[in-house]
Amino acid sequence: MLRLENIDVHYGATQVLWDVSIEVGEGEMVAVMGPNGSGKSTVLKAAMGLKKPSSGRVVLDGEELQGRSATVRPRRGMSIVLERRRLFPRMSVRENIMLGGYARPSAEAHRSFDWVLDLLPEIRPHLDATAGKLSGGQQQMVAIARGLMARPRVLLMDEPFLGLSPAMVKNVFAIMKMINGEGVAILFNEQNAKLSFAMSHRGYLLESGRVVLSGSGEEMLEHPEVKRVYLGVREAVS
Ligand SMILES: Nc1ncnc2c1ncn2[C@@H]1O[C@H](COP(=O)(O)OP(=O)(O)O)[C@@H](O)[C@H]1O
Ligand SMILES: [Mg+2]
Repeated sequence: MLRLENIDVHYGATQVLWDVSIEVGEGEMVAVMGPNGSGKSTVLKAAMGLKKPSSGRVVLDGEELQGRSATVRPRRGMSIVLERRRLFPRMSVRENIMLGGYARPSAEAHRSFDWVLDLLPEIRPHLDATAGKLSGGQQQMVAIARGLMARPRVLLMDEPFLGLSPAMVKNVFAIMKMINGEGVAILFNEQNAKLSFAMSHRGYLLESGRVVLSGSGEEMLEHPEVKRVYLGVREAVS
């Protein structure tokens, strides 16, 4: 349903993505894994229209989006949860979540709000709390809730596990699976190979702005290069 085709991205004169092609099928969970600075965030920004590619196409359900403004995407069913959560720390949890419904008329926004809270009931007790006072994990939950307000068919998530305790990682992991189980396709970034590929249908390995490997989640986890470089598994020496 979502395709990035041969995307190049520059920041000023510096090229940071080269010929990146990534596909997300209907209802799929897809991971983009790569080290710090490899271009993962830029891939999502290009997909969401927050950064204009210098060449290549972004296609959603056959419609080309790369020239369109970033406001078109939410209406077409795309939504993004940005890295490090990016909440408004002084606003309440409720206000932060409602901001995710900006593209919708208000009756619909309230229906979305109810739907989101049914999916993420653990947020309910914190609705009137100041967002900045919540733990990192709770804030990530609120950021996900905000991203879901647009009722996306494709949810982009930039390092959803960043800075979370192992228990919260498990929790967010379970939430992503549940959202995906609701039929929402997810394209997410992550630096950890195991986290990336253990739960995804397909994955991509990004190095220095280029896709160097792709395959099913299982294939990626079993790939000798991924094992050696990113899982720290040493080949037996005979
Ligand atoms: N706004 C920016 N201006 C200039 N260079 C940037 C900007 N954002 C990212 N970069 C550079 O682009 C490359 C890819 O960055 P990024 O997509 O954030 O990687 P990742 O998310 O994998 O850490 C890095 O070399 C980074 O320094
Ligand atoms: Mg990043």
